[in-house]
Amino acid sequence: MVEALHKPVMLGEMVDWLSPKDDGVYIDGTFGAGGYSRAILKAANCRVFAIDRDPSTKKFAEKLEQEFGERFVWLLGNFSDMCSLVAMHGVNAVNGIVLDIGVSSMQIDQSERGFSFKKDGPLDMRMSDSGQSAADVVNGLGEEELADIFYYYGEEKMSRKIASAIVAARNVAPIERTSQLADIIRKVVGGKHMKADPATRSFQGLRIYVNQEFESLENGLKAAEDLLAPSGRLVVVTFHSLEDRIVKRFTHSRCGKLGEHSRHLPSMVGPQHSGVGSEWNAPRFFLPKPEKRIPSDLEIGENPRSRSATMRMMSYGKVALV
Ligand SMILES: C[S@@+](CC[C@H](N)C(=O)[O-])C[C@H]1O[C@@H](n2cnc3c(N)ncnc32)[C@H](O)[C@@H]1O
Repeated sequence: MVEALHKPVMLGEMVDWLSPKDDGVYIDGTFGAGGYSRAILKAANCRVFAIDRDPSTKKFAEKLEQEFGERFVWLLGNFSDMCSLVAMHGVNAVNGIVLDIGVSSMQIDQSERGFSFKKDGPLDMRMSDSGQSAADVVNGLGEEELADIFYYYGEEKMSRKIASAIVAARNVAPIERTSQLADIIRKVVGGKHMKADPATRSFQGLRIYVNQEFESLENGLKAAEDLLAPSGRLVVVTFHSLEDRIVKRFTHSRCGKLGEHSRHLPSMVGPQHSGVGSEWNAPRFFLPKPEKRIPSDLEIGENPRSRSATMRMMSYGKVALV
């Protein structure tokens, strides 16, 4: 079967904000099938360091290596480690960074990766193919911890009942397939009249936990702050409100609108490049207007998976905003 490639979301908007320049250096922190990397490399005679934690994305990287030669470098790893990953190539400042958070269409569509409740597969969900799998979590954690995962990462109101049903089922036999888990959840949630599959939220929660997605995003944003050169630009695309909230919170802790200091922090006393909640409140990131974008109806019609995307844009340090 031919693998359907991931359709990049809001590609034009991403390139517009990043505005790649000749001789610039850019990081695509979530390479996937390489749609963003390719667009950046085509927009200017620049270099792109592309990071993905999923080793299976290497095959897409090889195509870009052939097409763009030394202008393109693929790195296997977590974008939260972007500083050390590019330092190995002698880079300690970049002109722009893009993060297109979450899973790719390839990952969801391959049942053997275990992300989908629609197709049966092993209960895996690991983007990086290493560490603990979803089956390890579902069969190994206590009932309360499981409930918390569904509640906090999946916003599932019936989290406690789901966790209790899981524990009852695994006492009979381990839960090893996505279809087994989805059936247990569906029986608890019911939801004949629900638009989305009743397993959607719990699967999302489990995936976020297995891949430590929120921690990666928080650390990735701080790493981006450390790596961007003055006037460097950051684009972050998220796919649900919990992730967008992390980006928004980060933005608000680092940004004043043009010329203003942050409303959220005390007066300016600290050094640059310190962590969240530091004493330093000079705005380090600046926001364009509007500061976030969502896909057009046309794009959603052509690519329904884009419907929940939010793009946030900012620049590091004062810059003439477009
Ligand atoms: C939504 S897709 C990106 C699609 C890409 N923009 C394109 O045009 O094809 C997300 C990709 O990011 C990767 N990913 C997610 N979190 C990551 C992290 N913390 N570090 C590195 N890669 C990550 C996933 O493995 C997946 O391949």
